[in-house]
Amino acid sequence: MTKIKIGLIGLGTVGSGVFKCLVNNPKAEIVQIAVKDIEKPRNIDGLDKTKLTTDVMSVAQNPDIDILIEVIGGVNPAFDIIKTALESGKHVVTANKELLAKHGSELFELAKNKNRLILYEAAIGGGIPIVMPIKTTLCGNKINKITAILNGTTNYILTKMDTENASYEETLKEAQKLGYAETDPTGDVEGLDAKYKITTLSTISFKEKIDLDKVYAEGITKIQAEDMKNANEFGYKIKLIALAQRVGEKIDVRVHPMLISKKHPLANINDVTNGVMISGHPVGDVMLSGPGAGEFPTASSVIGDVLSLVEEFDGNPLPIMQCHHEKIAQMLDISETKNKYYISINAKNNFGVIESLGRIFAHNEISISIILQKGLQSDNTANVVVITEECFENNMQSAICELEKEDCVKRINSLIRVTD
Ligand code: HSE
Repeated sequence: MTKIKIGLIGLGTVGSGVFKCLVNNPKAEIVQIAVKDIEKPRNIDGLDKTKLTTDVMSVAQNPDIDILIEVIGGVNPAFDIIKTALESGKHVVTANKELLAKHGSELFELAKNKNRLILYEAAIGGGIPIVMPIKTTLCGNKINKITAILNGTTNYILTKMDTENASYEETLKEAQKLGYAETDPTGDVEGLDAKYKITTLSTISFKEKIDLDKVYAEGITKIQAEDMKNANEFGYKIKLIALAQRVGEKIDVRVHPMLISKKHPLANINDVTNGVMISGHPVGDVMLSGPGAGEFPTASSVIGDVLSLVEEFDGNPLPIMQCHHEKIAQMLDISETKNKYYISINAKNNFGVIESLGRIFAHNEISISIILQKGLQSDNTANVVVITEECFENNMQSAICELEKEDCVKRINSLIRVTD
């Protein structure tokens, strides 16, 4: 049997895993690998250095290659590489969530015109099989909601803050020392990585194009150890949640921290593990969880895509595996969303503080569900913690503005959305 010929772009953590998993495969052979530095010491069994090149475009254009695997990440030069590979008739397998979220439409259109496929199981949830199940097994469903933890770094930090009662800053430092967070952690801790992933996941789930620029993202940098303690006391955990749901004719997609009820399966997804709950009709709720990153879990998804393509090679790509959306989604702005909220307020020890807070909430049509004040602190202030019933985001923002101007309020410590 002739082996399918593969070009691999990138030999970092994921690329090495892919190489190790495919090196002895009877159906596929990696014939060329593009790297930044050929001489860099690499401890990879079976790696033939003559296959390494720094000329990425020669791999993308190589007429002997049937499938191009791109695992370098980022938009440039990945966009040009993938475009060139499709134009020269190759199928593409990628783990590049940023590229798909930013330029997916254009690339999928090109792939369709060339009768080629772009598969990207590894781009969302690492080793969790989520893209193909949505496209195939669940294709008879109307998916209404996705609630997910899609970033391992932030889940690790929040888990440690919770179990060790530690601050965000010290936990981040520890995570960086252990290699769970990057030196520049911005993409993870500000929610951008999860934003890219939920954008593509909701596009395929709702079959409507989600505009990345309209997806609200807020990271975990303002979460305090005190919030973790309070959340636990109220029966919640704090997680960075990627949420996508239908609201009437509109689609609401966002990433932000949430207090999530301890009864929700995602509340028990800890450390670097990712989890995705899909709610659809007729299936109901489906929960998938597993390793969201790492050499072998991510390689598992990449080689799964490669081998599905190998099986399909003699025929036309199955339309079900293509990406197509019927229309551009009408997106709900964050200000139009309805949520429950956790608010921690630092107030002066004045008479009538609770009355003032109650008046501001009432005036903004916000009803209080839980209110807690545990005595006074040494600086003669009190932390008043409130959980509200569901209300509009813009009403909450206007209440926050009024609270900030209120004489008895020293500071708003935290504002976090809540889900049961
Ligand atoms: N940085 C990501 C995470 C892994 O922490 O989950 C790759 O998407």
